[in-house]
Amino acid sequence: MQDNERPAAPPSSGGVDGAPKKVFIKAYGCQMNVYDAERMADALAPEGYAETSEIADADLVILNTCHIREKAAEKVYSELGRVRELKSERAAAGRDTAVVVAGCVAQAEGGEILRRAPAVDLVVGPQSYHRLPELVRQARAARVVDTEFPVEDKFDHLPRASREKMRARGVSAFVTVQEGCDKFCSFCVVPYTRGAESSRPVVKIIADVRALAEAGVREVTLIGQNVNAYHGEGPDGATWSLAKLFAAVADIDGIVRIRYSTSHPRDMDEELIAAHRDLPALAPYLHLPVQSGSDRILAAMNRKHTADEYRDIIARVRSARPDIALSSDFIVGFPGETDADFEETLRLVRDVNFASAFFFKYSARPGTPAAALGDQVSEEAKSERLAELQRLLDAQRFAFNEATVGKTTDILFERAGRHPGQIVGKTPWLQAVQVDAPFSLIGEIAPVTITARGSNSLFGALAETAVAA
Ligand code: SAH
Ligand code: SF4
Ligand code: F3S
Repeated sequence: MQDNERPAAPPSSGGVDGAPKKVFIKAYGCQMNVYDAERMADALAPEGYAETSEIADADLVILNTCHIREKAAEKVYSELGRVRELKSERAAAGRDTAVVVAGCVAQAEGGEILRRAPAVDLVVGPQSYHRLPELVRQARAARVVDTEFPVEDKFDHLPRASREKMRARGVSAFVTVQEGCDKFCSFCVVPYTRGAESSRPVVKIIADVRALAEAGVREVTLIGQNVNAYHGEGPDGATWSLAKLFAAVADIDGIVRIRYSTSHPRDMDEELIAAHRDLPALAPYLHLPVQSGSDRILAAMNRKHTADEYRDIIARVRSARPDIALSSDFIVGFPGETDADFEETLRLVRDVNFASAFFFKYSARPGTPAAALGDQVSEEAKSERLAELQRLLDAQRFAFNEATVGKTTDILFERAGRHPGQIVGKTPWLQAVQVDAPFSLIGEIAPVTITARGSNSLFGALAETAVAA
């Protein structure tokens, strides 16, 4: 679909004086958008685009957007206002700037973005990134909107990054294994912006992970909007579960840690729980959003489980892996939520004891069933509940971190630290640890004794065995 309301722009000359063209990509929202942003950069590299972190230098600006809450979507429009100014400044200096809106706002709003944001040349939905080079070329002649759900799989057509680029992105990488959602929680836009649930075939995932491992990646996080609903075609022709996929990924040389995100309680089956007991490479960390502790609200949210069913899953996960760090998402102020419902959420939090969490005020999203419900909760009540929930969850996070002080555990070192001579790595429980250690350890795993807790990260010292080694 094309929109020709604006006169054709002159063909882009690329960078000034034949200099390489530059692309600036900003990702909002979830991990999948971060991953997709990298794949967009990979798709544009063969076209001669080098990535830049300076938006003012960019011949091509891509905003990979998120539609999950009103604030997230509004952020995009304010950024587009700034991009518009930049585009005119660059035009005054004789330089073209193409502006692309990708991601979930693109999918949800399509052509409406062209109307609201005159600087935008191309609107492209999450399933069409493999067509990006061609669409950018088309957009030079007339503004383009592509929010189709094409039959072909974009991953089959997206080029892989060079080895150097993969390594430069770090020792921990995301790999999309599943996309889309069929759950239709009544508050959520994802089933509309990302489409139906689909799983990538095992062989393709293994090939991607192997390439990453060969480039030096040590940890992979397998991601999906509902990753534990994974049911991909296996090399044997049978349908493979996520647990089975984990085992194959763990066998790849170089991969020492596996993580996954985000899961739904309904898909937390026995095989996956058992993997937390049986597979050493699977990190003892589970992000399992519950949203609310009130059965009435859970039903209105269409989550299709009760608070006690969630408690039961947690009990089974803990018996499989007693040291597991638990994390969750919460929404306060869903339509009709009373003080008593909110108390039930606090009770669930106290019962479970989380190592970390994300919490949000309910935001009515256009087109979702919950937005049409009466009995919306006041902003004031939402703020109060959010603050109270945050106090409780922060205290739990601090206590969890405190409990690791004095322990010696394997740290995967990822990058330079805050101060000279420091490097930062992660514990198996996903806590960041600052350690005085040589840069040569980045990309390696070494035992570290946790010595102190800061508000957001931990401090540690290389354990004796590592120093001696
Ligand atoms: N697929 C994942 C995550 C989806 S979005 C899951 O099912 O858990 C991430 C989080 O954003 C959700 O878990 C939810 O807590 C929050 N969220 C989604 N829609 C929202 C809305 N309309 N208002 C506030 N928070 C929302
Ligand atoms: Fe949204 Fe629910 Fe699907 Fe998660 S499971 S993406 S919250 S609809
Ligand atoms: Fe946002 Fe889309 Fe992810 S709405 S949270 S970017 S799936």
